[in-house]
Amino acid sequence: MSKYLKATTAALVLMLAAHPALAEKFGLGREALPEEIAAWDLDVSPDGTGLPPGSGSVMDGEDLFIVQCAACHGDFAEGLGNWPPLAGGEGTLGDARPLKTAGSYWPHLSTLWDYINRSMPYGNAQSLAPDEVYAITAYILYSNFLVEDDFVLTRENFLEVEMPNADGFIEDDRLETEAHFWNTEPCMEDCKENVEITMRALVLDVTPVDEQEEAIMGEAPAVEAAEVVMTAAPDPALVAAGESAFRACQACHQVGDTAKNHVGPILNGIVGHPAAAIDGFGYSGAIRTAAEDGLVWTEENLAAFLKEPGKFIRGNRMTFAGVRKEEDINAIIAYLSTFQN
Ligand code: HEC
Ligand code: HEC
Repeated sequence: MSKYLKATTAALVLMLAAHPALAEKFGLGREALPEEIAAWDLDVSPDGTGLPPGSGSVMDGEDLFIVQCAACHGDFAEGLGNWPPLAGGEGTLGDARPLKTAGSYWPHLSTLWDYINRSMPYGNAQSLAPDEVYAITAYILYSNFLVEDDFVLTRENFLEVEMPNADGFIEDDRLETEAHFWNTEPCMEDCKENVEITMRALVLDVTPVDEQEEAIMGEAPAVEAAEVVMTAAPDPALVAAGESAFRACQACHQVGDTAKNHVGPILNGIVGHPAAAIDGFGYSGAIRTAAEDGLVWTEENLAAFLKEPGKFIRGNRMTFAGVRKEEDINAIIAYLSTFQN
């Protein structure tokens, strides 16, 4: 078939899908049968709508889980290798790398039931009977210490299970709170001639943390708030300049995928990162004290530190005189901001 014909066929199919009457006229397709719609319409809502009758115990769930799920998710739902954990993670949502599971993160039990029913076991989706899904769901709750081992999950008691993070989500109120962004009249004449994109926002940590959300999320340490840092994706020339200026640091610091702690700590993701918090590096007391006081490596703090390390944190162990030229400092920061941890 020629390219042209293929394109027109695709357009025709799209058009027919959008206009059932035309489909009929051309003798193509048919309306879906109620059975087909029912087979496809599986979803379970947070209020329990869509749950079939049934029940399953933690004990039965354990047996099923060992056979059907443990090869990937571990005997206790703790996850194996790179397969995802389904249990644990409580109290980690404020961390730089939260462990999000049904126990720590998912607000509704229905999501767990629905996910398993719809898509697990991986490679053999929708092979489980409702009672089996109830039992396995009960076992995952048990693995998260949310129910006792004699618990039986049923459609009737489904909504009574308390999900630890049920209140951890907030209403999306941007329509009101950010209305001013889209209420402005677009300029239709005599507008600015050239629009130049000078920087792009790169969100290092997309979870906003302020006092109100902190209250919802539990006690996040004070430094977390400052961790929410927006940096601009820097201009490539500046990054290149930073790469050469970084030679001054390379005797002691490594960056990139294969970076290891050396004389100084790995600097991946350091821009916006709390100070003295790179895993496995033995910091001096001086920098640890500064970190306890909430020091975060914002661009400003980094610039001040790199200018005069010994003055910015007295008694720290980075035996380095400082970077003399302001432009080199900016370039190094731009370069460092391209490495995420
Ligand atoms: C062959 C490996 C494998 C088996 C067996 C398996 N899973 Fe999974 N499971 C996965 C993978 C891979 C994902 C992630 C899928 C994705 O993100 O698209 C996953 C995701 C999940 C999730 C969502 C995790 C999250 O936090 O997003 C749940 C819940 C889950 N599986 C439950 C089960 C249950 C229950 C069984 C047994 C009935 C099972 N799985 C069997 C591989 C497996
Ligand atoms: C002679 C070795 C050496 C050189 C050169 C050096 N550093 Fe360091 N750097 C260290 C050491 C050691 C520490 C840890 C300080 C401490 O524990 O008090 C450190 C700490 C840091 C930290 C704080 C890291 C954290 O986790 O809080 C940053 C940022 C940093 N260095 C950036 C740089 C940059 C950028 C350069 C080059 C302009 C540079 N350093 C040059 C040895 C060095």
